[in-house]
Amino acid sequence: MGQFTLIPPSAATNAPAVDALYYFQSFVTVVMTAVIFLGIIIFAVKYRKRSNDEKPPMIHGSTALEITWSIIPFLVMLVMFFWGAKIYFDNGKAPANALDVFIVGKQWMWKVQYPGGQREINELHVPVNVPVKLTLASEDVIHSFFLPAFRLKRDVVPGRYNTEWFIATKPGRYHIFCAEYCGTEHSGMVGWVTVMEPKEYENWLAGGGATGTMAEQGGRLFSQLGCSSCHLFTAGGRCPNLMNVFGNKQQMSDGSTVIADESYVRESILNPNAKIVYGYKPDIMPTFQGEVNEEQLLQLIAYIKSLSPHHAPAVPAAAGKSAPKVPKAPATGAASVGSL
Ligand code: CUA
Repeated sequence: MGQFTLIPPSAATNAPAVDALYYFQSFVTVVMTAVIFLGIIIFAVKYRKRSNDEKPPMIHGSTALEITWSIIPFLVMLVMFFWGAKIYFDNGKAPANALDVFIVGKQWMWKVQYPGGQREINELHVPVNVPVKLTLASEDVIHSFFLPAFRLKRDVVPGRYNTEWFIATKPGRYHIFCAEYCGTEHSGMVGWVTVMEPKEYENWLAGGGATGTMAEQGGRLFSQLGCSSCHLFTAGGRCPNLMNVFGNKQQMSDGSTVIADESYVRESILNPNAKIVYGYKPDIMPTFQGEVNEEQLLQLIAYIKSLSPHHAPAVPAAAGKSAPKVPKAPATGAASVGSL
């Protein structure tokens, strides 16, 4: 990894698709630059002033020429637009069987946790040839999680979850960078992703020394914070029964419905009055803003997810059983392209 290269190593299924678009854009740029500079030189010579009393003829422009040089670049740009949009949307939704990994950005480190409860800092371990979904949260300011070898980059924004996914194709160690200026030690907010064979990966997970899965850690928090005294698992609690809530439609007291996803659960913990479940009163639940950090929020969400069996978090051990088929060229947001 020491040698200088123009293009980062290519270690995920996204990479070829992003590279192809990047090469196309570079090609168009070079061609256009050549056309413009050749034009300048040729016209400068051809129409140079030959004598002092030479009067050039009056010209009134050419509509055909102007339309041509507007339409052709327009079409070329549209190709880039749709090509980039396709790559962006292909990267938007992780396959259902993707392994979950949760990443919290904080000045100035990346905190990583796995559904099995393992945690590490500035290191991310993933199996090869398995789709992996990253859920990104920030504890303070905007960061950007950048995996050049995977051609992936996503902003990590306080107050919301962003996701991205990839299938790593080559075992090895690759850089993680923060790609959004986030303060004094932004440039030091770096880490490594290690891509391992599934067998090795399972050994690594087993050696993680986790104290329970993320859902179990969340369950402990749930009783420590007193949530369990109001959210009973029977009817008649002061707060809703959370059994089978996650992933399902919830009726709100203002008549709207909400799908209980990660963001909804997060909001309900930090700002309980934002959405009141039908049949319940506001101002019963206190806010937990400042009481729980982003990592604990993710654990609580994992716990609430685990109460909906159909939406149980992916168990890492399942990774090795059968490597899922690699979908055709999923790819990253076009945003990564410009900064290579
Ligand atoms: Cu975090 Cu730059």
